[in-house]
Amino acid sequence: RRGDTRQEEAVKRHHTASPPTTLHVQESLYDAAFPFYKQPLEVGRFSLDATRNFFNDSRQLRYYSPPPPGDSPQFDLRDGYRDRYVKRDDSIKERLDHLLQWIQQNQSVLRAGAASSETTTSSWLNKDFVTWRGHLTKVLTTPYEKQEGWLLAVTHFRGTYYISEVETEAARRQREERTAAQEELMYMGYKFEQYLCAATPGGIPDTGGVVNTNEAFCTVVQTKLNGHSLLFAGEVDCADPKYPSQKAPDCYVELKTSKEIHSANQQRSFNRYKLIKWWAQSFLPGVPRIVAGFRNEEGIVASLKTFETMKISHMIRGDWNSWKPAVCMNFCNAFLSFVKKVAIQDDPQLVYLFSWEPGSDVSYSVHKEPTLTFVPAWYVQLITQ
Ligand code: A3P
Ligand code: MG
Ligand code: MG
Repeated sequence: RRGDTRQEEAVKRHHTASPPTTLHVQESLYDAAFPFYKQPLEVGRFSLDATRNFFNDSRQLRYYSPPPPGDSPQFDLRDGYRDRYVKRDDSIKERLDHLLQWIQQNQSVLRAGAASSETTTSSWLNKDFVTWRGHLTKVLTTPYEKQEGWLLAVTHFRGTYYISEVETEAARRQREERTAAQEELMYMGYKFEQYLCAATPGGIPDTGGVVNTNEAFCTVVQTKLNGHSLLFAGEVDCADPKYPSQKAPDCYVELKTSKEIHSANQQRSFNRYKLIKWWAQSFLPGVPRIVAGFRNEEGIVASLKTFETMKISHMIRGDWNSWKPAVCMNFCNAFLSFVKKVAIQDDPQLVYLFSWEPGSDVSYSVHKEPTLTFVPAWYVQLITQ
């Protein structure tokens, strides 16, 4: 209760009748009990192939296939960078298009869901928010983020708030000025996936094949954070066939790489800056396990470690200057409430651009430029009909 009151105060208003202007992000404002977060439910899946074509199925789902127990891995993450790498063009902004395509092809699933629960929005979609999991991950980690700001475009259309990230100037510069070493490091994260994933349950990884980062398997999840109903999609690295009876998302495994840890300082920094991102990314869709590969200076992974998502917060609890899952979730709840108070006008062409930089409050501006509008005309037709 005290937390609720303080979070109310986090919203600054000119006067009570007008929408708030900013949202504070200080950790202390959100240090309250963990909010209600409904168990995430997978409502669908989709795949993107080697040329980024959409398929309403699981064809790109891969299966976890670790080396036999006792065998220490020797994964060379640099192998194939020069000759067996097809990199996705990350200058192409896809916005919410694939998720909206999934909605288009799964109206019956959503209509059925809407009929069996109280309807809070004005359409059969019946969700307050539609977005990517990755955008929510950024919102969750905001109270602890010291380096990278964000821009989130919001369109209020037929009772639903669509959230789509806009690249910041700083992020664009970083992307365009990436060094060869940074490019190779990015590749290594995907190469790690290839060493641990097979195309079929019980199959063997094809480590001589091409790494193509256009390919993706995504889960579509529905859940609720306090009073906010959410529909989001997130990329999933693989499913563990060891648990054939476990239904999604219980069978999913997130794969990660990180530098080998050799000092207490490195351990602190890993716990403080990396684990929070790993936790937020997997907690949101209910992915229970994260398999990490620790690489040495030469890019070789010689050890794997499994983290249980739900135990990560216990592992870091004793740390000095630690982070708290409740702060992340309470801030996300406050941000979604802020969005609802600000984005009053229901108009598919109108964009409320929320922006945040470390050390500042969240603020926003309103736009109607076609360059920022992101809800496509075909989707407006679909929802309006
Ligand atoms: P790591 O996870 O080992 O860092 P994901 O972990 O989300 O499945 O992403 C797979 C890989 O994509 C990452 O491997 C990393 O190499 C690359 N990647 C993802 N997000 C990135 C980002 N924001 N910047 C650079 N590389 C990124
Ligand atoms: Mg992934
Ligand atoms: Mg991963």
